Amino acid sequence: MALKAHRPARLTAAVIGLGSIGGVVAGCLRDADRHDVVACARIPVKRLVLERPERTVEVPLRTLSNPADATRVDWVLLCTKAHQTPSAAPWLARLCDSSTRVAVLQNGIGQAARTAPFANGSTIMPAIVYYNGERLAPDHVRLRHVAEYDLAVADDVHGRAFAEFLDGTPLRVLLSADFATLSWRKLLINAVANPITALTLQRQAVLRREDIRALCMAILDEAVAVARADGAKLATDESERTLSTLLTYPPEAGTSMYFDRLAGRALEIEALTGAIVAAGERFSIATPLNRALLTLLRAINDAAGGGTGRVLPAACVYTNVRRTSARRYHKDRKNPRGGKTLMRATMGKRHVRGVRAKTRRLRRGDD
Ligand SMILES: NC(=O)c1ccc[n+]([C@@H]2O[C@H](COP(=O)([O-])OP(=O)(O)OC[C@H]3O[C@@H](n4cnc5c(N)ncnc54)[C@H](OP(=O)(O)O)[C@@H]3O)[C@@H](O)[C@H]2O)c1
Repeated sequence: MALKAHRPARLTAAVIGLGSIGGVVAGCLRDADRHDVVACARIPVKRLVLERPERTVEVPLRTLSNPADATRVDWVLLCTKAHQTPSAAPWLARLCDSSTRVAVLQNGIGQAARTAPFANGSTIMPAIVYYNGERLAPDHVRLRHVAEYDLAVADDVHGRAFAEFLDGTPLRVLLSADFATLSWRKLLINAVANPITALTLQRQAVLRREDIRALCMAILDEAVAVARADGAKLATDESERTLSTLLTYPPEAGTSMYFDRLAGRALEIEALTGAIVAAGERFSIATPLNRALLTLLRAINDAAGGGTGRVLPAACVYTNVRRTSARRYHKDRKNPRGGKTLMRATMGKRHVRGVRAKTRRLRRGDD
């Protein structure tokens, strides 16, 4: 008698946040078509174009823009920026129950503590993201593989379930016996590249300056001491290794914090530099340089509206067109470049056309 081939169960899944990372993972899951996937986004799309090194695919994608339409799923992939987690609470409340697993695809550490208050007693597992995602338009993303693996999770029952869930997609998952050390290693990379490029408003070429390299080493030495106190098993020359890795990246590459600052969006600082300073406090380790970076970045964030909850340009365009247009927002804020220029500078042409169409529909009361 022939044995039946093992067919893994078809699961239900929701991707919250259809940005660079969420768009890529949603596109990969839809293309593999092993699970029923829905995307939770502020602007719904019907199809998604995913550019991969091997080929470009266009897949149909069910998106929801109102949490009230969401129902319980087996897997949630939380792909917002870390500071946007509280705004995802209405989605999590509808999607999660105690048998749901929530994979948090966000940089930094402390993802479980950040997400748990909103997740209805579900199981939360952080995932380290190594792939590079780029959102070219709301319905168009690009995946670049930049390391041996695209994601890393703990080698436990939930991590293995996550790897199985992504089986059949081009995303390669590393199951790690020392997830804490890997998380800190990723944080070390982000802890210098993001703040320095955002503060200097220069791409990664700035890290090649001798004085900046010396500053990076001092920032890293503080962070490495904190990471070791937190149990990370780091090499004796971890700071040098981190900096060497950073210097292999193309000088013209930016960082997400650099692009967010250019676009006037809130900066993901608390999950990165903020996490190092907070852990330093817990272990009574002084982190004066990281603290100085944090103070400066918080001041920038507050001035841009990120720390106060005021509406930022991108959010304004997506969610608040009824009240004010992005253009008027910038005029109001006396931005010398004006909203029209900034809209063009920060979004693709198709995106701008989509936003204008939505603005017209809202004005007509069609939406
Ligand atoms: N991009 C990369 O290559 C990369 C690599 C490694 C790690 N990461 C990390 O991955 C995480 C995600 O980064 P990302 O680059 O994908 O950011 P992103 O491109 O800004 O995407 C975040 C998405 O979440 C959406 N969002 C925010 N709040 C929401 C809400 N309440 N409901 C629905 N959608 C919501 C945003 O929508 P709006 O556009 O409407 O605001 C946006 O589409 C971050 O922690 C980042 O540091 C990124």
